[in-house]
Amino acid sequence: MIQVTNLNLQYKDFTALKDINLDIKKGELVVLKGISGSGKSSLLALLGAFNHPTSGDIKIDNKSIVKLPDIYSSQVRNKYIGFVFQSFNLIDGLNVYDNVLAPLVLSKQKITKQKIIDAMILANIEHKQNDKIYNLSGGEKQRVAIARAIVNDPNIILADEPTANLDKDNSLAFIDILRKFKDLGKTVIIATHDSLFDNLDFVDQYINIQNGKIV
Ligand SMILES: Nc1ncnc2c1ncn2[C@@H]1O[C@H](COP(=O)(O)OP(=O)(O)OP(=O)(O)O)[C@@H](O)[C@H]1O
Ligand SMILES: [Mg+2]
Repeated sequence: MIQVTNLNLQYKDFTALKDINLDIKKGELVVLKGISGSGKSSLLALLGAFNHPTSGDIKIDNKSIVKLPDIYSSQVRNKYIGFVFQSFNLIDGLNVYDNVLAPLVLSKQKITKQKIIDAMILANIEHKQNDKIYNLSGGEKQRVAIARAIVNDPNIILADEPTANLDKDNSLAFIDILRKFKDLGKTVIIATHDSLFDNLDFVDQYINIQNGKIV
């Protein structure tokens, strides 16, 4: 489902990713590990077509996404990908419900209240649906970001440090959500340094990244 070949990313004179190769099959759960600054977010951003590599290729369902003009990148995202950003990227002045609704508007999918409620329930944030984002705690914002990523039922979910702001109970609840995704055949890639993700029996691949290289 996702093939990465000889991927390199250069930020001016800094090499962020070096010769990355990955083969991720449909329905796999992949945990990307590595210390701060190792390149996890850089790699996820390329997989989500938010950025272009310096060289190399990424194929989703056998179609290259690396050279797509931005307008098509956003179409790929809307069709295939739910993304949980490390910094949430929520709209502060809107309430929880409207933030979760946003991807449905962008992907021109049929908007039903039930879809939004279901995503909020899954992420355990439904009770805050009428609250503005700026009034939420860090962990609550994280859960809104999770609900937003899953509301349009994407086949691929990319999550950058999805439990960084959660307490243990909510982190374990997120791991339960992952188990559900796995049962639904979703392909999930998580960047994390949370040790709760170590040794999970339903993880298909643990990938370690060090200084931009897979080790
Ligand atoms: N736009 C940019 N310009 C220059 N350097 C960048 C840019 N974005 C990231 N970097 C550098 O690339 C390296 C990898 O960053 P990245 O955000 O991918 O790390 P990470 O593994 O996600 O770290 P963390 O665990 O702290 O989130 C870092 O050294 C960072 O400073
Ligand atoms: Mg990061």
